[in-house]
Amino acid sequence: MQNIKSYVAEHKDRFLSELIELLKMPSISADSAYKKDVITTANSVLKSLKEAGCDTVELCETEGYPIIYGEKIIDKNLPTVLVYGHYDVQPPDPIDLWTSPPFEPVIKKTDIHPEGAIFARGACDDKGQMYMHVKAMEFMTRTNQLPCNVKFMIEGEEEVGSVNLAKFVKTNQEKLKNDVILISDTGMIAKDVPSITTGLRGLSYVEVEVTGPNRDLHSGLYGGAVANPINVLTKMIAQLQDENNHITIPGFYDNVEELSKAERAQMAKAPFSLDNYKKALDIDAVYGEAGYTTNERNSIRPTLDVNGIWGGYTGEGAKTVIASKAYAKISMRLVPNQDWENITELFKKHFESIAPEGVKVKVTPHHGGQGYVTPIDSVGYQAASKAYEATFGKTPIPQRSGGSIPIVALFEQELKSKTILMGFGLDSDAIHSPNEHFGVWNYLKGIETIPFFFKHFTELHK
Ligand code: BES
Ligand code: MN
Ligand code: MN
Repeated sequence: MQNIKSYVAEHKDRFLSELIELLKMPSISADSAYKKDVITTANSVLKSLKEAGCDTVELCETEGYPIIYGEKIIDKNLPTVLVYGHYDVQPPDPIDLWTSPPFEPVIKKTDIHPEGAIFARGACDDKGQMYMHVKAMEFMTRTNQLPCNVKFMIEGEEEVGSVNLAKFVKTNQEKLKNDVILISDTGMIAKDVPSITTGLRGLSYVEVEVTGPNRDLHSGLYGGAVANPINVLTKMIAQLQDENNHITIPGFYDNVEELSKAERAQMAKAPFSLDNYKKALDIDAVYGEAGYTTNERNSIRPTLDVNGIWGGYTGEGAKTVIASKAYAKISMRLVPNQDWENITELFKKHFESIAPEGVKVKVTPHHGGQGYVTPIDSVGYQAASKAYEATFGKTPIPQRSGGSIPIVALFEQELKSKTILMGFGLDSDAIHSPNEHFGVWNYLKGIETIPFFFKHFTELHK
């Protein structure tokens, strides 16, 4: 029987060129101008699953982009692993900041990736990581080493909230029945510090609109005499956090799960250099909620951030104007036990209540999802841990992430199974940013590690 290391060595160039082809497709789910490309990408994923050895593959239409489903059932007495991933990507802008075009993948060396990294939108999030599973599947089927049943569910709307996937999951429980869900759509601490993501934050995403006068006004004739929506909006936003960077929305922290001293001490053991963190971002200080470390602030604590703000004149030169309207997009990252719908309601009530006279405020919820934490004593976690031991020679560190994959909490609720987050990306891979990339080493290491998860999960599962 061929081993995975030699299989990867033998097929490495093809694994890279296939991924590069996939990355050329601009599957931007947020922008309807790319509708055709998103659908082409879905079909390409379908084809690759078939080629990797799935017995059935299906393009499942939804009200939005299709879900690609594939399966290989070898014995219904054996356990079933459900692999989830997404083929859609974030918009690439600001495009000027890319050193090479986002949909013309190139391999370039970096300090962290001396053996090269693939630069393209979606390289790490999530095409590269999703495709590791397709290639691991190819290895297992072609060498007759698939130890259990496998189902794939690859969606095209993760970056826009997975609304149609949620419906699909609710109405296809039997089809999606599984013993564990496996996802590579997160990161790890460092190439020599493997980690397994044990938590994701929840999310509430809202848009706010502040309206003042019924039309844009001359800022000399009216300035100082009417509420300026942009001034008001920025004041309102500033009030959402106090001097300790504590969120001021009444009730916001009510259900927040507080970690014990012991749990926080355990967390603090994970290797982390504040100096390197600051250097990597060119900042001279970190910033955040008083009383918590950087790693706590971005994982076990809820936060509120403005993601975009606009209004008035932003063109060349100066225009003296008081805009009629001002807008902002605000996200709140949530932690276990906070309910995103409840938080959205609390935000709306509070934001409306702090509006001064002279303006009207509208709050429109976008999307959201619950946070997730998974125990480290589950069979799935143990199997993942053993898989990393086999390929990294080290026991991975459990770590809660600050990012969100809202569908994961829904998987647990609807399918009653645990999700294992085996991410191979690095924080420096610049996901959602210009120059997103994925290390060639990470990509191949992922392909190498996944079959061990299948092996150990099958062995440990009773
Ligand atoms: N893969 C990311 C989430 C992620 C990245 C989690 C790294 C942990 C570590 C996912 O594609 C993503 O970007 N999610 C969005 C939420 C979604 C509803 C748009 C996010 O976290 O902003
Ligand atoms: Mn992702
Ligand atoms: Mn993403």
